Amino acid sequence: MTLELSTAGESHGPALVAIVTGLPAGLQLERDAIDNDLRRRQEGYGRSPRQNLEHDQVEVLAGLRHGRTLGTPLALVVRNRDHENWAWGMSPWPPEGDPTGKGTTPVTLPRPGHADLAGALKYGHEDTRDALERASARQTAVQVAAGAVAKALLREIGVDVAGRVLEIGGQAAESGWKDATEDARSDRDTLGGVVEVIADGAPPGLGSYAEKADRLDARLAAALMGIQAVKAVEIGEGFALARLRGSHAHDEIGVDRRRATNRAGGLEGGVTNGEPVVVRTAMKPLPTLMQPLRSVDLGTGEPAEALVERSDVQAVEALAVVAEAAVAWELARAAREKFGGDALVDFLGAHAGYLERIRWPRNA
Ligand SMILES: Cc1cc2nc3c(=O)[nH]c(=O)nc-3n(C[C@H](O)[C@H](O)[C@H](O)COP(=O)(O)O)c2cc1C
Repeated sequence: MTLELSTAGESHGPALVAIVTGLPAGLQLERDAIDNDLRRRQEGYGRSPRQNLEHDQVEVLAGLRHGRTLGTPLALVVRNRDHENWAWGMSPWPPEGDPTGKGTTPVTLPRPGHADLAGALKYGHEDTRDALERASARQTAVQVAAGAVAKALLREIGVDVAGRVLEIGGQAAESGWKDATEDARSDRDTLGGVVEVIADGAPPGLGSYAEKADRLDARLAAALMGIQAVKAVEIGEGFALARLRGSHAHDEIGVDRRRATNRAGGLEGGVTNGEPVVVRTAMKPLPTLMQPLRSVDLGTGEPAEALVERSDVQAVEALAVVAEAAVAWELARAAREKFGGDALVDFLGAHAGYLERIRWPRNA
């Protein structure tokens, strides 16, 4: 038994779609909780005006009845309100009538740092819009919706996942974030940052060392690196551990089997050890610059400035929400693998039985 997620959708297409399989039947979902995470993803100082337009809300097309999962595939949709401005340019079928609205002229000016050039070469696109529409982080909306479902499942077994911003544009204190963002905006530039996700309450034993693909640290790293613009992932103290001696790097085990420190970030051997799971990710500055970098016009072969398109100055607050969803998803997947069950009660029963088996001391 495992959780699987498939997504589809272009940034300015009609909608974003997710299909979630492997949920137990009987899980109560709250529409407001999903929409709240969608709203959190849209917030932040540095977002583009598009966020005023979208007001993302989830629609459920299958797998749910009266708020409870049926144990069948769950189909989620988040519509792109902006699509009406791109109806001709992003029409799935050959559009009728004269070109009108946005996206009608081919884009041939690849942005350094975006998927435009690599994507156009790979798929043979002459209009880089055919690459950038899917490469765009707009698709993270539906991943956040799936993450909210994963969080609902995790909450049933007492696991709480929360993401937060640590740095924006090199500023570690929250007081500096807004100014750094506004400075970059007035310089027509962009910023990156660092976020941290902590999962509390995960039982020991999620993930496995049996194969590298089973390791939860590897899965978390892949899930986080799978988010647009993420360029580094750290588990626990991560890079800092490389500069320490072993005597100062590891978390000693008490007679209660707990640790006074958590430098490992709750993972040993790719398996949760009962301490909070702690991961950090670094996001590069966003590639769309209002003061564009040098590029080439793919149509003429002449030097040119890269595409300028409505864009965020920074999206680090949004990344905290997307990363939270990614971590929740991987933990929920590992929990489904460990505890199984077609019905939620079976899943909860397996979890309770397991906690009883590992209870320490046994007579407590
Ligand atoms: C939440 C979020 C919002 C983003 N918004 C933008 C944006 O407005 N403009 C932009 O150029 N890149 C944005 N990005 C980053 C690009 O999607 C990303 O850099 C691009 O797809 C290339 O992928 P790579 O950076 O992983 O190589 C955003 C990323 C995230 C996670």
